[in-house]
Amino acid sequence: MSLDAPQGHIGFTLNGAEITVPADPAMRLSEMLRETAGARDVKVGCNAGDCGACTVLLDGEPVCACMMASGQVQGRTVETQAGLVADDLLAERLAQSFQRHQAAQCGICTPGMMVSAVALLRSGAKLTEESVADALGGVLCRCTGYRKIIAAVLDASDTAPLAEGGVGAPVARLDGWPKVAGTERFGDDVAPADALVVRVIRSPYHRAGFRFGDLETFMEENALALVLTAMDVPGENRFGVIPGFEDQPVFAVDEARFKGEAVAAVVGTPEALDGMDPFPVTWEERTAALTPEGAAEAGDLHPDRAGNVMCRGRVARGSAAEALAEAAHVVSGDFSTGFIEHGYIEPEAASARRVGDRIEVQCCTQAPYMNRDGLATILGLAPEAVRILPTATGGGFGSKLDLTAQPYVALAAWHLNRPVRITYTRAESIASSTKRHPSEVHMEIGADAEGRIVGARFDGIFNTGAYASWGPTVANRVPIHASGPYLTPNYEANSAGIHTNTAPAGAFRGFGVPQSAVAQEQLYDMLAEALGLDRLEFRRRNCLTNGAPTVTGQVFETGMGIDACFDALEPHWTRALADCAAFNAESMGIRRGVGIAAGWYGCGNTSISNPSTIRAGVTPDGELRLHQGAVDIGQGANTVIAQIFAEALGVPVSQITLVGPDTDITPDAGKTSASRQTYITGNAARLCGEALRAQILRLGNVSDAARISFEEGGIALSDAGTTVRVELDPGEGYALEAVESYDPPTTPLDENGQGDPYAVFGTAAQMCELEVDMALGTVKLLRIVAAHDVGRAINPLLVEGQIEGGVAQGIGLALMEEFLPGRTENLHDYLIPTIGDVPAIESLIIESGDAHGPYGAKGLGEHCLIPTAPAILNAIAHATGARIHHLPATPDRVRAAILSTGA
Ligand code: FES
Ligand code: FES
Repeated sequence: MSLDAPQGHIGFTLNGAEITVPADPAMRLSEMLRETAGARDVKVGCNAGDCGACTVLLDGEPVCACMMASGQVQGRTVETQAGLVADDLLAERLAQSFQRHQAAQCGICTPGMMVSAVALLRSGAKLTEESVADALGGVLCRCTGYRKIIAAVLDASDTAPLAEGGVGAPVARLDGWPKVAGTERFGDDVAPADALVVRVIRSPYHRAGFRFGDLETFMEENALALVLTAMDVPGENRFGVIPGFEDQPVFAVDEARFKGEAVAAVVGTPEALDGMDPFPVTWEERTAALTPEGAAEAGDLHPDRAGNVMCRGRVARGSAAEALAEAAHVVSGDFSTGFIEHGYIEPEAASARRVGDRIEVQCCTQAPYMNRDGLATILGLAPEAVRILPTATGGGFGSKLDLTAQPYVALAAWHLNRPVRITYTRAESIASSTKRHPSEVHMEIGADAEGRIVGARFDGIFNTGAYASWGPTVANRVPIHASGPYLTPNYEANSAGIHTNTAPAGAFRGFGVPQSAVAQEQLYDMLAEALGLDRLEFRRRNCLTNGAPTVTGQVFETGMGIDACFDALEPHWTRALADCAAFNAESMGIRRGVGIAAGWYGCGNTSISNPSTIRAGVTPDGELRLHQGAVDIGQGANTVIAQIFAEALGVPVSQITLVGPDTDITPDAGKTSASRQTYITGNAARLCGEALRAQILRLGNVSDAARISFEEGGIALSDAGTTVRVELDPGEGYALEAVESYDPPTTPLDENGQGDPYAVFGTAAQMCELEVDMALGTVKLLRIVAAHDVGRAINPLLVEGQIEGGVAQGIGLALMEEFLPGRTENLHDYLIPTIGDVPAIESLIIESGDAHGPYGAKGLGEHCLIPTAPAILNAIAHATGARIHHLPATPDRVRAAILSTGA
């Protein structure tokens, strides 16, 4: 093609088509491809060369489009995921393999992964696990743990069909093809072309008073459409997720309480924002507390929370003090963890438009109805006047439950009556989004001479940051779970959430339970050692079984499956210990270790109502629609809920048309959080399927055994060798419809935390084999075996995907991740596991059944990472004799711990 594009234009070949687009040659290639050339399958996760989401092929070679100038592609050839899958059989087969292996979860990294894989496949290089890991090594994935991605690439030439079936079958993701074909639309992909852009002005200090200059003049001189401050919030200038704790302002007033807090926003064209003068604000830096130790002296951040204590949690049963005093063996220790950043590859993004007296917001989110209600409060509108249209969500893990970008676009669109958009930069996302709570735990556990636990005492301080977010949930959930899944007759656990001048700590996969497990499971190893017992045997001796009370006095007659998890691990444990001993007999510099840990997690909210509703309808022309409002952030809700509904209705999944979350047309399935969707929304789907089936069978006057099949304009019912057809009434709306809800049966907790906080607990035990370089303190993971009791695996492949992804996040928690307020700004400061950091993971799926779960299924999302970090830490201790008390176990800390043993 011609190299002579007109001035201010770039000419190049994009996915086989020669195009010329207007573009500044210095503009990032990623931006030009997305905004000018319309290739929104090119994703932007960092704009710094760290995540690889923007990978495209330039003359056949993979490059990070965010690190190239548009002018560099003049006259050259660019290929992106969507073009490759549409035009290249090799890429299409790779996409099918990704579908078959469920290698795309949220799908935001998938373009980068697949484009990199296409380059490898085209090269003809020998495909091995190592060569695939090398080729994909520059692309980060936060969801999958990489194992299924590697398998999908290795298997790319296979043309086996996708799995089909109902409950129990590894059905391919119903929403999977757009992710692997490059047509999925995430938060920033749906922004209207004519939208103005919102940019948030944030505090550069951990704590500071501030005053604005002349905003009116600033707006005019910079040709801005609008400047927003707290004065422009028509409703209440606050939001939050827990009733009574809605304490975070949309815009701070007079004082900013953390570095990155919003104080104002400007709205304009991209050109106006890029050329804008410095925002007129003067700051007065004030004394800030970044840790709970300093919080008492820094002055109260909130007038109603003396000493910066946000809230406390407590569970007490029997007498822990007496039991520990009389125990044959007592171990104790202090353990701490830091802030953990969610690190989803898709930064927060939203767009909004005003429609008369209503506002519509498109955003990546985990909680559309909570977002709706929160925005209604901010805008001073009725909830029904706000419509949330969730886009695909490129990872959430808890942080996309809270409002982030939505208030700014909603306010701007409301005032301007024009579409507006915002996408957070990576630095902005890391600075302002919620984090996993840092923890400081002291725990004591005692056992009798036979190795039975007699009592435990737990004290946990959790840094909850400047605002409450999900801090109250963490403070309440941790004491219930800090015993681990073990019979602990005497128990006292206290927790407190303390405010500091840091980003709010909120929900992150486990709500504080992974932090408490780090302490409890390491102490269990120490106790087993004191008793001279095998560590697995010690745990099995003490694990909760059906009929035994938990620390809240709750008794499960079915579904407590932790003993089965230990049984499943036992042969692996025996083999690994033998391998380890043989290796260490020959090696001093590199030592092998084997670790084990368990975890449990109550599915759903703690002791409060959290219902889900599912609606289904049959159109007059015979289409079966499932209004499925449980946001699928990659965990597979769209597929699992549909499988459950299909099973209850008695039809193949392929007969269902999914109607996704939209607060105008899909009922509230609650938030995607707390491992609640498979269990709670799944039960609503089961009830809905059963109700619709009953209606249909009644209409056909056939038996309960009849087979249902949807046809054009009617329903065929086959019963005992005969088929009858039910004609559907023509007209508006659905010819048949069912709406059903489910709310878990729980009870409130008393002042000692006694009661039934959850109807369902999931349990897990994992073991880890690793090597430690004794001189360097580096840790190399060799293998993880993860046994999870999921009650019933609705979709075993999705279960594996959850386990592998959770394990990868547990690896990060154990070995590398720590957000340092004000210092960690991007994905090269903040390290998450890469493809080379995740070893082979073997999943052992236990199906002990559950009395409450749909077809016996329990939730799974949070459980997967709870045992991982303590299993790794126990393996490090086994290898080295050194115990790690503060995470992450970076090489310097491991080396220091080794030196402290005198080695
Ligand atoms: Fe280009 Fe992350 S967006 S590497
Ligand atoms: Fe890789 Fe979500 S599937 S980041």
